[in-house]
Amino acid sequence: MRLVLLGAPGSGKGTQAARLKEHLQVPHISTGDLLRAEVAAGSKLGLEAKGVMARGELVSDAILLGMLEDRFSRSDTSNGFILDGYPRNLAQAAALDGLLGRMKQSFDYAVKLRVATELLVERIAGRAKAEGRADDTPESVRTRLQIYNNQTAPVIDYYRQHGQLTVVDGVGSLDEVFTRILEAISSGHEVG
Ligand code: AP5
Repeated sequence: MRLVLLGAPGSGKGTQAARLKEHLQVPHISTGDLLRAEVAAGSKLGLEAKGVMARGELVSDAILLGMLEDRFSRSDTSNGFILDGYPRNLAQAAALDGLLGRMKQSFDYAVKLRVATELLVERIAGRAKAEGRADDTPESVRTRLQIYNNQTAPVIDYYRQHGQLTVVDGVGSLDEVFTRILEAISSGHEVG
């Protein structure tokens, strides 16, 4: 199974991807996690990305594509993957089509988790208290939501127009949302 998980910051992409990874036995590729690992390692890329991420802005398309090419070159992606956090704009959507095309692959579904903005803000505030993630500040969250609405929403429309999108209600318990995703990818229809 090859899945692209889409949704606003705090919609539950990372949480559900971790469960899907176990269930589907395919790797979870989170561009946010890959970038945070670079920041933690203090690499050149990490140093470049650190401030951009803390402000809630997008790291450059070129850096992201290089990172993804590198990750997809590993053999564990040959049977499938769950891509979380990419693409975030139309240029990245085109880059993903190109990358998968070169590997003679495509993805099965783009799954969007739908959650109302007030609940997103509430969830991220909860995580900020519990984990203190560097970009979970109110200013950064505002920027991330704005970028999502301006740049990522067109990606969702693009997949919808191409018949690749399935939308899942992301509100409810972790188990409920997980079950809806599994139903959606087995039926190909919107659930919830
Ligand atoms: P990234 O790490 O991708 O962050 P994000 O998209 O802002 O997403 P979040 O991690 O905030 O939310 P999520 O949807 O994964 O929700 P989660 O499961 O954690 O990106 C970070 C930064 O990296 C970007 O801002 C950018 O700078 C850079 N970057 C990454 N990809 C990039 C790209 N492609 N191009 C350019 N730059 C890029 O859940 C959130 C909280 O809610 C958790 O506390 C969780 O426990 C809780 N929760 C989850 N589900 C539920 C539920 N059903 N009920 C109640 N609580 C729930």
